Amino acid sequence: MKLENAPLAREELLRKLKDRSATIGILGLGYVGLPLALRFAEVGYKVAGFDIDAGKVEALNAGRSYIEHIKAENIAAARKRSRFEATSDFSGARGCDALIICVPTPLTLYREPDLSFVINTVEAIVPHLRPGQVVSLESTTYPGTTDEELRPRIEAAGLKVGADVFLCFSPEREDPGNPQYATSTIPKVCGGTTPACLQVGLALYEQVINRVVPVGSTRVAEMTKLLENIHRAVNIGLVNEMKLICDRMGIDVHEVIQAASTKPFGFVPYWPGPGLGGHCIPIDPFYLTWKARQYGMHTRFIELAGEINRAMPEWVIGKVMEALNDRGRALKGSRVLVLGIAYKKNVDDMRESPAVELMELLVRCGAQVAYSDPHVPVFPPMRQHHFDLKSVPLTPEGIASYDLVLLATNHDAFDYGLIGKHARLIVDTRGVYLKPAANVVKA
Ligand SMILES: NC(=O)c1ccc[n+]([C@@H]2O[C@H](COP(=O)([O-])OP(=O)(O)OC[C@H]3O[C@@H](n4cnc5c(N)ncnc54)[C@H](O)[C@@H]3O)[C@@H](O)[C@H]2O)c1
Repeated sequence: MKLENAPLAREELLRKLKDRSATIGILGLGYVGLPLALRFAEVGYKVAGFDIDAGKVEALNAGRSYIEHIKAENIAAARKRSRFEATSDFSGARGCDALIICVPTPLTLYREPDLSFVINTVEAIVPHLRPGQVVSLESTTYPGTTDEELRPRIEAAGLKVGADVFLCFSPEREDPGNPQYATSTIPKVCGGTTPACLQVGLALYEQVINRVVPVGSTRVAEMTKLLENIHRAVNIGLVNEMKLICDRMGIDVHEVIQAASTKPFGFVPYWPGPGLGGHCIPIDPFYLTWKARQYGMHTRFIELAGEINRAMPEWVIGKVMEALNDRGRALKGSRVLVLGIAYKKNVDDMRESPAVELMELLVRCGAQVAYSDPHVPVFPPMRQHHFDLKSVPLTPEGIASYDLVLLATNHDAFDYGLIGKHARLIVDTRGVYLKPAANVVKA
């Protein structure tokens, strides 16, 4: 398209976004992409889903969900209302007016950003781009990614960003398992490569999100997401350190945090635990650490929090050993039941779960390990971990048959009264058992 036609491309795209005749393409149909696809479908857009995972594509096209908190009925409704379909054939990107990228951004083995999923996705759609489309990246990443990795790839195809194709970064803020917020009620930040890109990005998201917050550039939007997650990682590191100090002083850190939380201003509670989990908090801060090096900067808070948080599983195992030792037992040969193996309460997501590291450490010490998790009935295939285990039911006799119960994830579905009554020994990493009891050790 010639540049003089550019305002037309934008006007036409804005019209389609506003009258909801646009087709929305979502690339990456996981925890972030699938709810977003369903939200666009809910308000009446035609939605196309793209994913390289053939199993997910097949499940969605059969109206099945593979995420616990997303109901199959919602997928069936989207299929009916918006002709929602999933595919691994990226040529369909041409028929979309908006392309929203929600693919993983993990770390490599050397703890450096692995942008391969983002780059593969961009390279898969670039041959199918045409004037009058908006591309929005939602995957968490370091500042500069949209400008340095996406823009040149799009422009190499002969399309001018800001005139032919409109490019944005709009970070995702999903909180799976939190019933208080839905995709539409979580305010969404959006930055554009040019003012025209931002205008189109706002028109896209304002249709489905109650409050869209414009920022001055894609770099600001990228850094905003990192700040949010670094803020959590650093504060969790702080309370984990406070936990070690309180433990040595014989003070219950949970009681301290609860008391501090009564201050109506200037204090935000964070809770200690057995380590960081999930796809975001243990990973995203190190995207900034890597990028900061290019500017000769060190991210000292991030490194320190990472050091403390990463040491938590081993510290917990030390407490397990101590608790057994006090009762004249060795960890080697003991039967240990791990309660809750998802990375946080009330979800089925196992990514980076510290409970899995606890299980690995227990096995390495010679313990016999079982687990119970109502959200994870069978231990799933994981890249670096393998356990041939199924969740065991919690019965009075079953609970009493273990030498130790290690509470790793505090799902609401557990009957803590039953567990507390029948367990011989509980090591509680989540502050569930606040009242001192002979069979409870806090870790
Ligand atoms: N899960 C969360 O709560 C959350 C919250 C905020 C931000 N994020 C960020 O959002 C991004 C996505 O996270 P997620 O939790 O949805 O990941 P996910 O693993 O649940 O989903 C990603 C999907 O992308 C697919 N995929 C991989 N490569 C692809 C390609 N080349 N083309 C198309 N699909 C491809 C995968 O098969 C998978 O289905 C990450 O950057 C993450 O940091 C996640």
